[in-house]
Amino acid sequence: ELPFSESYKIKMVEPIRRSTRQEREQWIKDAKYNLFNLKSDQVFIDLLTDSGTGAMSDRQWAAIMMGDESYAGASSFFNMKNAIKNILGFDYFLPTHQGRAAENVLFSVLVKEGDYIPGNSHFDTTKGHIEFRKAHAVDCTIDEAANTELYHPFKGNVDPAKLEKFMAEHSSKVPFIIVTVTNNTAGGQPVSMECIRQVRAIANKYNKPVVFDSARFAENAYFIKMREKGYESKTIKEIVREMFSNADAMTMSSKKDAIVNMGGFIAMRSEKLHQECSVFNIMFEGFITYGGMSGRDMNALAVGLDEGTEFSVLETRIKQVEYLGEKLKEYGVPFQFPSGGHAIFVDANRVLPNIPKEEFRAQTLGIELYLEAGIRGVEIGAILADRDPETRENRYPKLELLRLAIPRRVYTNNHMDVVAAALKNVFDRRDQIKKGFCVTWEAPIMRHFTIHLERA
Ligand code: F0G
Repeated sequence: ELPFSESYKIKMVEPIRRSTRQEREQWIKDAKYNLFNLKSDQVFIDLLTDSGTGAMSDRQWAAIMMGDESYAGASSFFNMKNAIKNILGFDYFLPTHQGRAAENVLFSVLVKEGDYIPGNSHFDTTKGHIEFRKAHAVDCTIDEAANTELYHPFKGNVDPAKLEKFMAEHSSKVPFIIVTVTNNTAGGQPVSMECIRQVRAIANKYNKPVVFDSARFAENAYFIKMREKGYESKTIKEIVREMFSNADAMTMSSKKDAIVNMGGFIAMRSEKLHQECSVFNIMFEGFITYGGMSGRDMNALAVGLDEGTEFSVLETRIKQVEYLGEKLKEYGVPFQFPSGGHAIFVDANRVLPNIPKEEFRAQTLGIELYLEAGIRGVEIGAILADRDPETRENRYPKLELLRLAIPRRVYTNNHMDVVAAALKNVFDRRDQIKKGFCVTWEAPIMRHFTIHLERA
């Protein structure tokens, strides 16, 4: 049998540059040990996020040229509307400038002070928009997700028993149930169709809508095809349609699985909800036929939704993530297993157990990896978990992860080899890393983006 290879060839390239360790020491100090503060040319391989960092296809660039920039009623809006209807099955939608804007608009209608929004792990902006409204995000993810060594095919799942118990006690304060596909916070882990059906059944019992946070819905569908019985011979588009048939509404960050650099949307079945959201969309985002997006970007998004739900595109992508995972396994570097759809999440609790959790293990590992080879990951740990909005105490999540998110169609497996080798070097000298970091300044909410740190 022939080896596997990418389902595309490359038409345009962008140079990147290696730096010296000495340069990086200075740059990261100047950045107050916050990886978000680095300039992109101070980074060699950028795995900060897979959001908006993908390479568009020739078809997408062609669609850009055909963008209709009319303020109202642009053909690009209708291209996007048709793609959403055909691929996801929703009759109504509103464009927004990105995923968190979709959350802002939808939650302005649905979330009130004192509400509870249960689901699997909420993404940080989702939680931010909930807590900003003095409501509570309730994480009902299965316990298996917290054990990085354990294999589970659908580690992103909602635990139906936890959800049912919560609903039995608090359903009067629950405006909707949210399911994030894939579950980014738990390690880019998928949610099974069986679980989606179980959530739907619980929602029906309590007469509540289900909202999907859909940033990586196509990667989720790929895992269902590969791992769930009965879906082996279905197409990704068939699986996607079935997934969304269980949702009443969705928010989308199109910067992930729709492979555009900017954009998002809300889609829904209810005309009434569409009308209610339109008011906020016009206030926050723009008129309802562009909502913060250029016509050209809506066009590229429509094509991206189609391409992003093709098996060959997903197979190429997810196999690259698996490739990095395999290398790390070979080197003994612990990570959330199995590898996720968009990223590898290195288990910093197991790499740096001797650093006190108060000194931010995953952040420390991230800084070390940057110093080692100019590779930028992102902390998914106590800094991101932020303070409890009521007690203002630091929250220490079960997992301290360093996420290495892989942009779509951007890096080759040679780059993955460099990432794996650099991480191995850090791992091999882990006993010499004895101190972490402490905070010198932080913002009152979503502090991780702008935090200032110094060596402890
Ligand atoms: N939901 C999920 C699951 C996400 O991963 C993100 C963004 C959002 C919502 C918000 O979308 O960025 O377009 O406003 N995740 C990026 C990341 C930023 O790096 O994981 P956005």
